[in-house]
Amino acid sequence: MKKKWVALMMTAVFAFSTAACGSGNNAATNDNQTGDGDTQVSSSSSSENKDKPLVWFNRQPSNSSTGELDQTALNFNKDTYYVGFDANQGAELQGQMVKDYIEQNIDKIDRNGDGIIGYVLAIGDIGHNDSIARTRGVRKALGTGVEKDGNIDSEPTGTNTDGTSAAVQDGTIEVGGKEYTIRELASQEMKNSAGATWDAATAGNAIGTWSSSFGDQIDVVVSNNDGMGMSMFNAWSKDNGVPTFGYDANSDAVAAIADGYGGTISQHADVQAYLTLRVLRNALDGVDVDTGIGTPDDAGNVLSDDVYVYKADERSYYSLNVAVTADNYKDFTDSTVVWAPVSNQLDASAHPTKKVWLNIYNASDNFLSSTYQPLLQNYDDLLNLDVEYIGGDGQTESNITNRLGNPSQYDAFAINMVKTDNAASYTAILNQ
Ligand code: BGC
Ligand code: CA
Repeated sequence: MKKKWVALMMTAVFAFSTAACGSGNNAATNDNQTGDGDTQVSSSSSSENKDKPLVWFNRQPSNSSTGELDQTALNFNKDTYYVGFDANQGAELQGQMVKDYIEQNIDKIDRNGDGIIGYVLAIGDIGHNDSIARTRGVRKALGTGVEKDGNIDSEPTGTNTDGTSAAVQDGTIEVGGKEYTIRELASQEMKNSAGATWDAATAGNAIGTWSSSFGDQIDVVVSNNDGMGMSMFNAWSKDNGVPTFGYDANSDAVAAIADGYGGTISQHADVQAYLTLRVLRNALDGVDVDTGIGTPDDAGNVLSDDVYVYKADERSYYSLNVAVTADNYKDFTDSTVVWAPVSNQLDASAHPTKKVWLNIYNASDNFLSSTYQPLLQNYDDLLNLDVEYIGGDGQTESNITNRLGNPSQYDAFAINMVKTDNAASYTAILNQ
């Protein structure tokens, strides 16, 4: 808060001093400064829609069966990028976090004393590369993964209480000279009947079914995200004292660590939301894409290389993940706070307000609605972007593309697809 004030004061002083210098011709731009949707800003660019800056975020254009990147979509024009997070690094952290917890609590974790540490796994979307990575990361760390075509199989097991599923195997861990078996008792994709994936309500129902048929075998609950993890925690594991692990570090999940939620992973959404809008801002300003990212901008915004990586051949920025557990959760209680090193307001005369069309694939996705969008809304002000937020139904691309009827009204686009294969549904509109 204090920092923001200082930044605002400095901007005011700067604006005053440029005005005093008598540049005189920026009165028109000054009228448009707020960027909050409370003034009418229309596209100021004369370029064709196909040449306007485009950023894909959270769902990387890729083949949902093979994971292969969709290079056509990633290279749509010279100002196209993807912003996400490092899925493999995060998945490894998540698996390690669960394994560490088991080791540290070995004397009390096996609730029915059968010598098997049983866990259940909520899978988000079997065709989403982040979900696949998380399933693999957990199975790898716990020794339950089996190889398939050179990778750990990420298929759901269905029910596997007897340990016979072909998609997983029993793992073993050794603690204090003693060996324990680890078994994935059950896993399933949490997709509702209408087709929405990562569905929290479906996960809440699944834990109900699982716990009523083999509840005393469940020692640990793992989820590909916090939305599903919290739904299972609230429905069952909290009352039964069963540690539950998620991903995203949404504020409600972080708070639940005090009540026995096992832990979560921050995918540094504060850095991702910044990068999502920053790459657009840079293209609109006609400056190097690294401005305000690896190179300080004129307001002092810059990211250090321990929070993100850029892979040029993938046209992709990836934030790095951090484990959030009982040891450090107090530092992560509000997931919507901007990352301090990139929280300085841009000067509106040098970076005039531009109009951005942005969609969230599913308006009721917990992570996107409770963490990512509030962050975007904080950064759009700082970056002088007037963003129109469109919320999808999580099921059909057309529900979103229908609302991209007049792309000429916008200067840039930020897209969160329903399905990672569907980039062309959007680029076709921009190509018209
Ligand atoms: C998040 C999930 C979310 C998904 C939506 C992932 O990065 O971890 O919580 O449901 O994105 O695409
Ligand atoms: Ca057991």
